[in-house]
Amino acid sequence: MHSSHQIILAPSILAGDHADLKSSLKEIEAAGLRWVHLDIMDGHFVPNLTFGPQTIKAMRSASTLFFDVHLMLDNPDKFVDAFIDAGAEQVTIHVEPDYPVAATLQHIRERGCKCGVVLNPDTPAEAAKPYLEACDIVLLMTVQPGFGGQSFREDVLPKMETLAQWRGELGLSYRLEVDGGVDLKTASACTSRGVDTLVAGTAFFKAADRKAFSAAVTA
Ligand code: DX5
Ligand code: ZN
Repeated sequence: MHSSHQIILAPSILAGDHADLKSSLKEIEAAGLRWVHLDIMDGHFVPNLTFGPQTIKAMRSASTLFFDVHLMLDNPDKFVDAFIDAGAEQVTIHVEPDYPVAATLQHIRERGCKCGVVLNPDTPAEAAKPYLEACDIVLLMTVQPGFGGQSFREDVLPKMETLAQWRGELGLSYRLEVDGGVDLKTASACTSRGVDTLVAGTAFFKAADRKAFSAAVTA
């Protein structure tokens, strides 16, 4: 079943121009979109590195987009303040590493920032259940995190249905976001299962007509 939320497309700037992030932000704005998805990687939780709070701070002064910051870090609790201070408006944290997830969600909220948990493709839905009431958003990875341009994992589709069902049953209103291998075809498979927030890196930045792609995905 479809979500009650309006469908949002949040392009992942990982697929943007890392020598000119400002222009990639402008391309997202030019496509008429409001969110940018910012992938933060530490080289430990995922086998890749991206950028830190200083880069986010620089992008913050160059854009009015909503900063959806995805922390792929072994110890996100140690970094949430730095990213919120830098301009993050939403911070999502993985449930897989060993740190105080609930306390970190609460701290993000206390800072006036939206919060959510992230599940890797092989992490069962049950791992998110203890935190759902504290979440503004739940992010389901449809690729193993670390790199853009991977293929969408259809085995995550049932997990979307489960999270959408729990949202209704528990009377909650978290957004349901997916991330990895999202394109025109896979997006509709997600939104028909209650997903309302789509991260697309490659498909957005490689689209011939980004505005048309964005309109089609969020229709
Ligand atoms: C992967 C990141 C995703 C990635 C999506 O670790 O979390 O946001 O950038 O990229 P595409 O859309 O290219 O699969
Ligand atoms: Zn991401």
